Amino acid sequence: MARIAVIPGDGVGAEVMAPTLRILQALDVSEGLGLVFDTFDFGAERYLATGVGLPAGQLETFRREYDAILLGAMGDARVPEGAHAREILLGLRFGLDLYINFRPCRLYAESLSPLKGKREGQIDFVVFRENTEGPYTGIGGSQKPGTGDEVAVSTELSTRKGVERIIRAAFAWAQKKGKRSVVLGDKSNAIPAHQLWLRVFREVAAGYPELEARHLYVDNLALQLVQRPETFEVIVTTNLFGDILTDLGAALVGGLGLSASANLNPDSTPLFEPVHGSAPDLVGQGRVNPMAMFLTAGLMLEELGHPRTAARLENAVLRAIRAGQVTRDLGGTLSTTGVMEAVLRHLEAPA
Ligand code: IPM
Ligand code: MN
Repeated sequence: MARIAVIPGDGVGAEVMAPTLRILQALDVSEGLGLVFDTFDFGAERYLATGVGLPAGQLETFRREYDAILLGAMGDARVPEGAHAREILLGLRFGLDLYINFRPCRLYAESLSPLKGKREGQIDFVVFRENTEGPYTGIGGSQKPGTGDEVAVSTELSTRKGVERIIRAAFAWAQKKGKRSVVLGDKSNAIPAHQLWLRVFREVAAGYPELEARHLYVDNLALQLVQRPETFEVIVTTNLFGDILTDLGAALVGGLGLSASANLNPDSTPLFEPVHGSAPDLVGQGRVNPMAMFLTAGLMLEELGHPRTAARLENAVLRAIRAGQVTRDLGGTLSTTGVMEAVLRHLEAPA
């Protein structure tokens, strides 16, 4: 049995979560996975009503009683600067110490890429984004805010332990999956503190002689990702650079409507969320692309120990894409529900 905490969240969160739960329930029935879902109403509505994003003691409850957290989206214009999104999303990432933000970028169909002549599967890399440090710790602030003398300082934190564990995770995964290379993206030419990343990368790489370890400054990495994305398999990078590179990666393979992510720590309760946000402009129209959320649920199934079911789900999404059964962002005409129905049909069809 696996207990899953479901947080639909804000905006289109509920619209992508509902069809995802339908699909998970169908898989549960056909494969006897024993999935149990509990829904939590964390998000802007509750925050505005109570001032609380993540209730006290919630992290402990998630840690003790749940095998996974599935989150739709966070973000609402009524909450200034996304305070509740930070409290909830970053609260979960940091509070549960989910140091790996695992974000795959895979091209499912040639037509989805804005790059010319990239065939299906030719772009296929994973970003290991550090997820508990960097400038995201909130260390810093503004002096004399609102004055002409305002000085805003933000400290980017990198600890030896934090850097080492994400780099080790990337190498271990690359080896397990039979990949050939791991690329580090940093900015150690301009930011001396990033030399820690480079040093640890070389140290860890020495333990994996069969893997090619390449180091790129992150600006050059961004350039190469566009010019020759097929040369990347595994990228490991800082929290902020990973944030930026994974939006770039999403753009290479069809946009945020297809980008999944997993926040992991082998000793904690993992959190699964699509890379996209709450897309307020799409709310209530029934046309948001649910595939990123489906693929995110696939990452969850894999993590829960059901890799064959996860592959079955990914394959069903792939078939729907091939059949043109997609929403408008991917050039189709289907509604959110229409895409769900298509994926459900492909799940039933023999492999
Ligand atoms: C993401 C988002 C978040 C991040 C925001 C909403 C804080 O952009 O998950 O990529 O920067 O990590
Ligand atoms: Mn982002």
